[in-house]
Amino acid sequence: MKRIKIFDTTLRDGEQSPGCSMNLTEKIEMARQLEKLGVDVIEAGFAIASPMDHKSVQAIAAAVTNCTLASLARCAKGDIDAAWDAVKEANHPRIHVFLATSDIHMEYKLKMTREQVIDRIREMVAYAKSYCDDIEFSAEDASRSDWAFLAHCYSTAVAAGATTLNVPDTVGYSTPQEMYNLITYLRENIEGVEHVDISVHCHNDLGMAVANSLECVRAGATQVECTVNGIGERAGNASLEEIVMALRTRKDFYDAETGVNTKQIYRSSKLLSNITGVPIPPSKAIVGANAFAHESGIHQHGVIANARTYEIMNSTDVGIPQNTMVLGKHSGKHALREKLESMGYELSDEELESVFTRFKDLADKKKNITSSDIEALVLHRQAAVQGSCQLVSHVVNTGHGVPNISCIKLQRGDEQVEDVAIGTGPLDASFKAINRMLQMDVKLESFSLNAVTDGEDAIGEAVVKVSGPDGRSYTGSGLSTDIIESSIRAYVNGINKIMESGN
Ligand code: KIV
Ligand code: ZN
Repeated sequence: MKRIKIFDTTLRDGEQSPGCSMNLTEKIEMARQLEKLGVDVIEAGFAIASPMDHKSVQAIAAAVTNCTLASLARCAKGDIDAAWDAVKEANHPRIHVFLATSDIHMEYKLKMTREQVIDRIREMVAYAKSYCDDIEFSAEDASRSDWAFLAHCYSTAVAAGATTLNVPDTVGYSTPQEMYNLITYLRENIEGVEHVDISVHCHNDLGMAVANSLECVRAGATQVECTVNGIGERAGNASLEEIVMALRTRKDFYDAETGVNTKQIYRSSKLLSNITGVPIPPSKAIVGANAFAHESGIHQHGVIANARTYEIMNSTDVGIPQNTMVLGKHSGKHALREKLESMGYELSDEELESVFTRFKDLADKKKNITSSDIEALVLHRQAAVQGSCQLVSHVVNTGHGVPNISCIKLQRGDEQVEDVAIGTGPLDASFKAINRMLQMDVKLESFSLNAVTDGEDAIGEAVVKVSGPDGRSYTGSGLSTDIIESSIRAYVNGINKIMESGN
C-alpha cells in the first residue's frame, strides 16, 4: 500500500484567505493540533511577508517536534534567507520555493522568458539547498503550463537539489482526468523523478480540488497539499479531512494510506473554526453538523437495522463526540479530566483548572452537561485565560418601547472600569458602553450566534468580527447560557485581540 504524505498549508495558504487570519498564539495552538492530527508537513507561513509572519514561523518551528516544518519563499535570495532563518531551529526544516511557469504568468506577472525562468530555478533551488537538505519546488500555475517546458523546469529543480516537486493547480482550472494525465506525463518525463516526492496542490474554484488531488494520487503523487476545512484563497484549497477520509474509506480503490490520526479530525476542524470565527457549513463532508445525521424515516430505519445501510464511515472514526449526558453538578476535577482524555484532550494543570472553573459555573445553570458542552469550554479556554480585559458584570435593560440601556463592568489589569450606554438594542448598548469606557473606536463587522447543543438550556456561542484602528479584522468568541452575556464576552475577546496586536 502506498504511503501518502499530508502537507498541511492551513497556516499559510489557508491563513491567506479573507477572514481567516490568526494571531501568534492561535497559530501555535493550531500547529500543535496539526501535529496531534499526524500531518507530515506543516507549512507555517511565508516568512518574508512581514516581521509577524517571520516570528510566527519561528515560534511554530520551536513548538512542533515531529512534523517537517516548511516556510514558503519566492525564487529570490531575500525570501530564501528569511525562510531559512525562520525554520532553521525546527527538528525537520524545509524550504519551499516557488516560481510561476505558465506562459501567462511568465509574460504578465514575472516578465521573464522561459530561459530566465529555468536559470532562476537552477540558481535559487541550489541556493536554498546550500542551507537545507529538504527542498520543495513548486511550479506555480503548473496545470496551465506547457507540459514539456514544465518537465524541463522540474528536471532542473531536481538537478539543483529539490527533494519534492509540487504541481499546483493554482487557479482551480483543471479536471480530474487532466490532473491524472499531467502527473502521469511528469512521472515519465522528469529526469531523476524516481528520487523525489511528487506533490499536488489543488485549488477549489470549480469545486474539484479534492477529486483532482485524489486522481493525482492514483497517477502516482506521493504528497497531497491541503487545508483543514478546505480554507484558502478564493474558493479554498483541497480539504484535508475529505482527502484523508476518502483514502481511508476507499482503501480498496486507492490502495493508499496516510499517517493521519483520523480521530483528531473533528477537533482540528472545530478548533480552526473557533479561532477564525468561520463557521463550518452544516452539509460540509466529514465535519459538517449534518454529515452523520439521518433525518428521513427510511434512512433512520435502515441505520437502526444495520448502520452500514446508509453509513460509509463511523462518526467516531473522525472523533465526533457522542452526545450522551456525561457529567453534572457533582462531578469533580478528576472525572472532568478523565472525560477530556477520553475525548482526546490533554490539558495542562493550569488549563484544566480554567476549564473546571467554567464547568462548575455551567453546571450551576445547566443540568445535563454533554460532550459538546465540554468541548466548547475547552475550545474557549484561550478566551478565558488571555487578554487584558475580562467581563465582571453586566446589567441590561431591554424591551419593546423602552430604551435599551446597558451597564458594563470590566476588569482591566488591576483596575475595574464601568460605563453605561443607550443603544438601538441590548448588544448595541453594551458594545457602546465598552467602547466608551476603553476609549476605543472599535467597529463591529459581523456577529453570529449558535447553540452549542440542543435544548432550552443550551450554551450560546457568539462570534464577532471587530476591527480596530489598523482596519484589520479580529475574531472574538464568547460562551454562556445567556446569549447577551456570550455576545458581550465575544466582543471583549475581540477587543483583547486588538489590544494584543499593539493597537
Ligand atoms: O496555489 C499555489 O500555486 C500556491 C503555491 C505557492 C504552492 O499556493
Ligand atoms: Zn495555493
